[in-house]
Amino acid sequence: MSNTDRRAYPAIAPGTYRLLHGGDYNPEQWRHRPEILAEDLRLMPVAGMNQASVAIFAWAALEPERDRFDFAWLDERLDGLHRAGVGVTLATPIAARPRWLAEAHPEVMRTRRDGVRLQPGLGRHNPCWSSPVLRERAALVIDRLAQRYAGHPAIIGWHLDNELGGDEDHARCYCSGCQVGFRTWLRRRYHDDLDALNRAWWTGFWSQAYQNWDQIRPGEGPVEGLELNWRRYCSDQVVDFCRHQLACVRRHSAAPATTNFHGDLDQYDLGALSAHLDFTSYDAYVEVLGTAADRDDMHHFSFLTSATRAFGGGRPWLLLESCPSVPQWRHSQRLKRPGLHRFHSLAMLAEGSDGVCYFQWRAGRGACEKLHGAVLMQDAPHDTRIFREVAALGSELAALSGLAGAATPAPAAVVWDVHSDWARQINSGLNSVERPRVTAHAWHRMFWEAGIGADVINAAHALDGYRLIIVPGVFLLRPGFAARLEAAARAGAQVLVDGLSAWVDDDLACVDGGRPGPLRAALGLRCEEFDQLRSDERLPIADPDGWFGADAQVQGWADRIHAEGCEVLARLSTGFHQDWPLLTRRACGAGACWYLAGGLQASNRAHLISRLSAVAGLAPCLPELPTGVLARERTQPDRRFVFLHNPQDHAVRVSLASGWLDAVGGTDLAGGLELGPWDARVVVRLNR
Ligand code: GAL
Repeated sequence: MSNTDRRAYPAIAPGTYRLLHGGDYNPEQWRHRPEILAEDLRLMPVAGMNQASVAIFAWAALEPERDRFDFAWLDERLDGLHRAGVGVTLATPIAARPRWLAEAHPEVMRTRRDGVRLQPGLGRHNPCWSSPVLRERAALVIDRLAQRYAGHPAIIGWHLDNELGGDEDHARCYCSGCQVGFRTWLRRRYHDDLDALNRAWWTGFWSQAYQNWDQIRPGEGPVEGLELNWRRYCSDQVVDFCRHQLACVRRHSAAPATTNFHGDLDQYDLGALSAHLDFTSYDAYVEVLGTAADRDDMHHFSFLTSATRAFGGGRPWLLLESCPSVPQWRHSQRLKRPGLHRFHSLAMLAEGSDGVCYFQWRAGRGACEKLHGAVLMQDAPHDTRIFREVAALGSELAALSGLAGAATPAPAAVVWDVHSDWARQINSGLNSVERPRVTAHAWHRMFWEAGIGADVINAAHALDGYRLIIVPGVFLLRPGFAARLEAAARAGAQVLVDGLSAWVDDDLACVDGGRPGPLRAALGLRCEEFDQLRSDERLPIADPDGWFGADAQVQGWADRIHAEGCEVLARLSTGFHQDWPLLTRRACGAGACWYLAGGLQASNRAHLISRLSAVAGLAPCLPELPTGVLARERTQPDRRFVFLHNPQDHAVRVSLASGWLDAVGGTDLAGGLELGPWDARVVVRLNR
């Protein structure tokens, strides 16, 4: 495929269509070792690297003292990288603050929930998100950088900050400035009407009513709407902080900008931020132990990157960090066995990444990440297995450049909404009932195993185009979401809602009219009682039409519902729950709304998904896949690529119809191919 062929999407980096292969590059840590810096430029092309994320934590190197800037080292590096054919994703270096700044202005540091402000020098991340002085100083250094390098030929894009939101409670700063901002934010949300807030938060409870806005302070307490809205406000601050950095860049440069998402995607509302980015990115550190858990972890990252892709509107995204070896923070330092780095990297391309990048190119000699696996370890020889595997992957990515800009079709969607997740975290009760993420994960896995593309979408995401939409454990209904689900069904989608969904409104108060609140008419039912089952309890079911497969039973929970205008397709069959509906359907325009009133084990869930997929007209992207083999497709206007992964310990034979070629070597694969244990192949076929 040549670079002039038509592509589904524009490239994520300017220039010819190519997959990116690169990583975090921190030359400021090696400025005293010119021979190392020279070797970097010599070895990057050998490793097939065409990208480097530069200056992520370099604020102190760029501005060693207030208003004294030093760009000489970066000038030299960018020129050198350009000469070596390596494109630079230049960072706004705000994720760690220089000591001089934090010493002079302690308020740039985050204040914890217990009121303690973090000390200068306490690592990275952890800023006060609304600090005016931090924003001012950040603007200054970003402005200088963007002005100086916007026209530099090495620049292919911008890396905004780093892993915004950090971990745990880091996305939330509890200083007085942030709290004042919170009250202003609340006044806007409740139209300056304190009574409306008191009603929405149900503050008549335990004499919690607010008499004036200044009494509203984040923290513990029985008013759940307070914590939920505090998280939303803090999320808006993180988004705004990132937008501020982007605005500084945009004064000088129009190059594509991204920021690296990480962890469980629940630190703040990444959907809200994604609207401002040119493409989304994710940092994935897959765990490889050589046990059955490896397949689970592989799916874990499929789930998170399916969300990353959906946040970016389905466009290609970028794996901005991964480890070619083992991160030092892993409990087990067991090495990835040969070929597994390639295997897992291709799995990320299968999810829509247009490249593979690492943390990091070269490990430093000191400080707390010196033992983190990298392409190169300190100043050690590069004749290593890891380097060779990285270089081999670099060649393979170059051969797969026809993939760049390809779509990642996803006719199914599983809803996982961070507002709903927060609501369950805050909610008192249901504490030992499975969490929204766990439920969504379990549903998404069924599509992943079946070879059917599925996005993970939030409640603000457009629903058109999806033929099957699963709404599992969406405890909180954001305004308008119920109506949009009904409209999607009317337009032809099959929409399945489960009994862990539709409990509370946008302020964490129970839905009006009883569960499932605003979805009651569309589903044609009402819920009466929710029963959590003992972990050893199983409820037999009557399933005359075989929706759930053999030996189906309900586990975990059962929802006692009254069918008011829907068909009952399966029921619970004995004991206290005998005859209560389990699966219902209500026709709705060209589609239907379905309700599932009980928890399922994996095999029954898989069966239900295969039946619903058939109703929705969805099929695996390759027919007759051998058991255990994963298939995922990416498409260009004139061709289809299919990724085949075999995450199991034995080889399998995959049969292929005529017309399929090996996407790397171009060999004709008529008759199929052999896929070894933990091996992957990419095949391609022209549309006819
Ligand atoms: C990421 C972070 C990198 C590096 C890496 C180590 O979360 O963005 O800077 O610390 O972890 O695994």
